[in-house]
Amino acid sequence: MDEFTFADAVPLAWTFHRGTARWLFNASAGGESPPVVPGRENGALPWTPLPTAELPAVTLSDAVQARVSCRRFLADPLTPAEVAVLLRAAYGIGTRSGPAMQDRPPPSGGGLYPLELTLLVRAVENLEPGVYHYVPAANGLERVQSIELPAAFLTYLFMGQPWVAEAAVITVLSFAGGRSLTKYGDRGYRYALLEAGHTMQNLNLAVAALGLGCVNLGGFYDDELAVLAGIDVESELPLYCCAIGRPDAAPDDRMRMRALERAEGD
Ligand SMILES: Cc1cc2nc3c(=O)[nH]c(=O)nc-3n(C[C@H](O)[C@H](O)[C@H](O)COP(=O)(O)O)c2cc1C
Repeated sequence: MDEFTFADAVPLAWTFHRGTARWLFNASAGGESPPVVPGRENGALPWTPLPTAELPAVTLSDAVQARVSCRRFLADPLTPAEVAVLLRAAYGIGTRSGPAMQDRPPPSGGGLYPLELTLLVRAVENLEPGVYHYVPAANGLERVQSIELPAAFLTYLFMGQPWVAEAAVITVLSFAGGRSLTKYGDRGYRYALLEAGHTMQNLNLAVAALGLGCVNLGGFYDDELAVLAGIDVESELPLYCCAIGRPDAAPDDRMRMRALERAEGD
């Protein structure tokens, strides 16, 4: 078998990665930091405040051990309190002293927080099904559109993965490039992917701490998802999704989760 090389196997990825290998840190736009903004909230959309998030007092050890992909969900809705905890842990704005916009659970290159979270809601108590944009600074959701999300549509959107349509909520993590690339240039794209990982891990651990289930999703059609989520791909890119719901197994029962997963593949 031929020896693997990036250049032969994945020339696009190789070109990007090597093209940003010797990059003067902060050199783009003279290293100027753009202002830190809380998000791309619209302000004119219907508004739903979230309850104050009470992060569950679960040990790190328990949360880490309970984290596992879940691909079988019950039909039960999530509560607004659970949604508030998930969003706060993933990308919320906190109450520490210092610059308010930079008090967030995940780290962020330059403290610029270029990510956005959108929720595709199928089943949350007191929230009609639809698409909602999370506004961390005001701890609430603005409704992008009311829309039923039929199973066949979601299964298509997520490339034939039927478990996505069983979830109560699907989070869409996207990258608003103007908020960090004016400082970091092309290399900043790497940082956005890394930050998405930090953010998603926080979300995963919060899911585990609440006894919920989730599966992270890299498989989706970018353009269709962007249209549904109200995202303009010219300036903001969907990166990473997560389907969340009540698991059809105890969340810390890793072996049972894996067995269910295998059964799905049979
Ligand atoms: C970047 C990334 C993308 C993923 N995309 C999908 C996906 O589209 N569908 C899916 O069912 N699982 C997806 N997963 C979940 C992995 O399959 C899962 O984490 C892996 O099999 C390990 O199992 P565990 O999470 O139960 O420990 C993804 C995971 C990562 C990190």
